[in-house]
Amino acid sequence: MLGVQEWLVRRAQRNQHSPEMRRGAAGKTRLLVRECEPRDEPEVRRIFIEGMMEMIEDTAIRGLPHHPDSLLLYGALTVACLWLSSSWWMLVLVPMAVLIARFWFSHQAVHRFTKHYLRTDMADIQGSYINTQGSCLWVAEVEGAVVGHVSAVQISDHTVELQRMSVDLGHRHRGVAVALGRRFVKFAQSSGFSKAIVGTTDYRPASHKLYLSLGFRWVSVTNGYRHVREPDGPSLLDRVFYHVSYHHYEMELLPENNADGKELF
Ligand SMILES: CC(C)(COP(=O)(O)OP(=O)(O)OC[C@H]1O[C@@H](n2cnc3c(N)ncnc32)[C@H](O)[C@@H]1OP(=O)(O)O)[C@@H](O)C(=O)NCCC(=O)NCCS
Repeated sequence: MLGVQEWLVRRAQRNQHSPEMRRGAAGKTRLLVRECEPRDEPEVRRIFIEGMMEMIEDTAIRGLPHHPDSLLLYGALTVACLWLSSSWWMLVLVPMAVLIARFWFSHQAVHRFTKHYLRTDMADIQGSYINTQGSCLWVAEVEGAVVGHVSAVQISDHTVELQRMSVDLGHRHRGVAVALGRRFVKFAQSSGFSKAIVGTTDYRPASHKLYLSLGFRWVSVTNGYRHVREPDGPSLLDRVFYHVSYHHYEMELLPENNADGKELF
């Protein structure tokens, strides 16, 4: 890791040469990746909240086939209700009730996590990221509008974590997340970290493809959402209806070469 002095000098140099720009595929749209400024914060929080809310449907619906133990439990519940009531309606009613419960518990959990972040790091982006050594938060800007963000958080002397990756729904599939991710990798390398990590509970392919294309490799999967530890742990009903897998990715950082061998902007 860099010393404080060296870090301050590098930050000043970085700000002189920023922002980074590139032309979009059509040659018209300018995508700018730069450090978050105080005026960007409301938009960053909006994009962050909307991205978090997408987790509700993702975990309630797309997550279902990924948890055979939950499917087995719901199946057993349906059979038990059928047996106890002797009504074929149970074959429709119980799965419907399970889906509603999955939406409800996902909704509750995601809102809890979102509120937690909005009260902590996202309440003071400048303090949490911009003025903290080893951390940063960048925004992607298109035609003057903030359309995405990503952050870096120092985990140890050697390790930095990619967090808060989110792109506005109307600007997806245009390489905005790749540009943000490359900015993170560049920062991680130039700050002297030797390892970058990232994790996701996403069941959609987008974030997994994104991290692999940035040069991360999949390491392991664990149960539960890692970032917010609840004092009493999840309730029994939470465990039954809000069951997520947390995928861990990491990347060894090479100080000289870019992680994916491509030009970084
Ligand atoms: C994940 C997310 C950041 C991707 O943003 P994006 O700007 O659309 O992504 P990009 O256009 O830069 O594409 C990144 C990679 O994902 C792939 N991808 C993007 N959307 C995809 C989709 N819907 N299905 C499959 N692959 C997709 C792209 O092909 C690209 O892979 P490649 O480089 O191998 O071609 C965005 O979907 C998002 O903000 N989601 C909500 C918040 C979230 O889930 N954040 C991640 C939490 S860990």
